[in-house]
Amino acid sequence: MPDVLAALPAAPAVLAARLLAWYDAGHRALPWRPEAGALGDPYRVWLSEVMLQQTTVAAVIPYFEKFLASWPTLAELAAAEDAAVMAAWAGLGYYSRARNLLACARAVAAEHGGRFPDTEEGLRALPGVGPYTAAAVAAIAFGRRAAAVDGNVERILARLTDDATPLPAFKPAARALGLALVPAERPGDFAQAAIDLGALVCRPREPDCLLCPWRDVCRARAAGTISQRPLRPPKAEKPHRRGTAFWVERDGCVWLVRRPAKGLLGGMAAFPCTEWSADPPPAALPPGWAATPLNATVRHVFTHFSLDLAVVKLSPPPQADPATAFGPGAWVPMEKIDGLPTVMEKVRAAAMGKNKTLRGDSVPSRTP
Ligand code: ADE
Repeated sequence: MPDVLAALPAAPAVLAARLLAWYDAGHRALPWRPEAGALGDPYRVWLSEVMLQQTTVAAVIPYFEKFLASWPTLAELAAAEDAAVMAAWAGLGYYSRARNLLACARAVAAEHGGRFPDTEEGLRALPGVGPYTAAAVAAIAFGRRAAAVDGNVERILARLTDDATPLPAFKPAARALGLALVPAERPGDFAQAAIDLGALVCRPREPDCLLCPWRDVCRARAAGTISQRPLRPPKAEKPHRRGTAFWVERDGCVWLVRRPAKGLLGGMAAFPCTEWSADPPPAALPPGWAATPLNATVRHVFTHFSLDLAVVKLSPPPQADPATAFGPGAWVPMEKIDGLPTVMEKVRAAAMGKNKTLRGDSVPSRTP
């Protein structure tokens, strides 16, 4: 790892003071954000940081407001039904975060008397709280000198120092640089200023260097290497998978199952599906059930693969129990289907003929 002080283009105190002055000159007002100079409420800060992982501020705001309206305190969230929390999270993606959120709320309620630990180390020991979230909550809610370094902050640090170490090997250096910069005063504001700088100014493409408080010292700017920092290994192409989703309908109701707790979309409500694989076997239909394939395929891109799902409408005979074919579930009135993850929402839209809501994600199916 490089000598951190030598890697920085100016003294940490100078860089931190400039970034804080930039933040003070006009930062975003966000629903979870404390006034400059104040500490945040731990519950709001933790909830927002879990939601903001891999997700944009614009997407998070309505979910944050909805969660706070439904569960205004940590104790209320800890006492919530799993299914209600999973349904409220539906559409935000990365559903293991919602399962971990509940596990964490319950651990804080049961093992910490309802109060979040106030150190990075104590926070790190909670379920689902990784190094970034622990540091962000420790700094923003408890005023600890902790380095909250996510992908955006890695980018600003790689550019500031013009470090050519490719990701992910650059991560330990980024943490060390981040920690060297955090001031003893206002570490929470510093964390949020760094996040905002990465999101608003030092953007991945077309950064607004003229607005940057570090523009005159930024080593990548001087070297003309901004667009190559941080250096990333070439992206591997995503594998493609296919499968079939079943819209099982009777008397205006549809059969919904719950995905297994572990794994993709774990714990979420879903339509029964075949396996999703590169070359799935033809879907086996329960004998005697009327099947109507729809002439649309739902396309969805997950982090590690893309998926084409054929949608087949099934009408079971009157006495047939869909649980025999598809496992435990429940009949839900068609108009009341709610709380689906996005890929299942696309299936619902395709089956109910609301293709407009697919926003160009619907493609002609290969086979009728
Ligand atoms: N992304 C991650 N944490 C954030 C925060 N506290 N404010 C805005 N964007 C963020």
